[in-house]
Amino acid sequence: MGDPALADENLIPRHPIHSDPRFAWRSAHFAVNGNWQLLVENLMDLSHLPYIHPKTIGGNPELHFKTKTETTRLPNGVRVVRRMPSSTPPPTYVAARGFEGLVDRWQEIEFEPVLIRIHTGACDAGTGAYDGNRDHGFSMIGFHGITPETATTTHYFWSISTNALQNGIPDLVYQQTADTFREDQEVLELQQERINADPDRIMIDIASDVGARQAKQLIRRLIREEQDREIENAA
Ligand SMILES: [Fe+2]
Repeated sequence: MGDPALADENLIPRHPIHSDPRFAWRSAHFAVNGNWQLLVENLMDLSHLPYIHPKTIGGNPELHFKTKTETTRLPNGVRVVRRMPSSTPPPTYVAARGFEGLVDRWQEIEFEPVLIRIHTGACDAGTGAYDGNRDHGFSMIGFHGITPETATTTHYFWSISTNALQNGIPDLVYQQTADTFREDQEVLELQQERINADPDRIMIDIASDVGARQAKQLIRRLIREEQDREIENAA
């Protein structure tokens, strides 16, 4: 895709967590029958977790709904932060880290065109999770490389890194993450079917869509700039 002459290897995004000895990681590729921007929207709005992923990384729907979504525009991206202090840890967190009480949970998402890094995790409540003191807690760092194939199909390359390194735990985290992303895939494909059946229907954003909306605006701006350049070059 695109003009090979314009490719610049220095612009390939780095993901240094893959070579960080404090983390173990696994990766996969899913072929998704849905438009790539549906995947962007899904990942930028983690309020879907309790509805789609109650068996793994979900949690209380009401808590997710009430959690404030803070977004920041970056020079070439969007950052989303959500915090859930003193909350019940979801099943994957308990299985991987053995939490017994309430946790201070975080969700931090960084979008840059077009990949998404998501750092989620938790520490025992009141032990410094929000002061940058997280090594004693549980971290899952997801890398989402979203590659359009056609208007309605997408290559979804992803990896999941975790700092829970005990025997078998990285595989457990990978397996539960893969199960989780299969649930997302099913939703995206159903969304695409609905869109195909009624393509002119207008989409409506709700409050928790703020991160996805900013990502979409950035993508639109980049497409416009590229088209302007092409027109200039042709002139
Ligand atoms: Fe999901």
